[in-house]
Amino acid sequence: MKTTTHTLRKLKGQKPIVCVTAYDAITARFASEAGVDVILVGDSVGNTSLGYESTVPVTLDDMVHHTAAVARAKPAALIAADVPFGEAHYGFDRVLSACQRLMQEAGAEAVKIEGGALLAPTIARLVEAGVAVWGHIGLKPQQVHALGRYRKFGVSAEEAESLIADALALEKAGVFALLIEMVEPSVARKLSEVSKVPVIGIGSGPDCDGQILVYTDMLGLSSGYVPGFARKFADAGEQFKQGFAAYAEAVREKKFPAA
Ligand code: KIV
Repeated sequence: MKTTTHTLRKLKGQKPIVCVTAYDAITARFASEAGVDVILVGDSVGNTSLGYESTVPVTLDDMVHHTAAVARAKPAALIAADVPFGEAHYGFDRVLSACQRLMQEAGAEAVKIEGGALLAPTIARLVEAGVAVWGHIGLKPQQVHALGRYRKFGVSAEEAESLIADALALEKAGVFALLIEMVEPSVARKLSEVSKVPVIGIGSGPDCDGQILVYTDMLGLSSGYVPGFARKFADAGEQFKQGFAAYAEAVREKKFPAA
């Protein structure tokens, strides 16, 4: 059964929602066959797969390319795609055009936009145009240069209040879900309680309506920085290395191919 934004709304308060990133057809197929609810074609493709230091250099063309690959796997999971750095801040026409490319050209069923209350008017117009928008607050990795580092959000009472205000403004604008990244767990719990839409956490503790992880972190494929909250559920990186080494040895010892 295909997961839709309607399915996700119904899961809130009933069953934890499972989300994961994927950037190509093979990974999307595995993730969907494993039963995840949402595949996010994250702009984390930049630092996980394209060799960049952050998500900032990822372009709309990159996102269209990777989203289309995921869509070709025809996953049962909902396909969401990140609106990359800068695009949402030019104004409505440009962000609508970015969403059009992600949905019409690439096959995304939803888009994720990093930003709080300031973007709520733009998001309300996108929703009116038929775009399913997933809001992203807390740590917004596209702001890494402005912030100077990745850090936890909502530790001070003032920041906690501002997160709640952001969440409520985005909900009013019509987002179908919220992603909260590196939010103080007690604030994450409060956000999940006050929001009518599902709140998906990453590095925000257990009391959210669902969780998301970057697949390379959870499968042991990341080579650089891996956040402390990301549990390794498999060591695929080690299996890859063993497989490549076994193949190299078989070729060099003339044991492969067989006569
Ligand atoms: O791009 C991404 O992978 C994200 C994570 C927070 C899941 O937005």
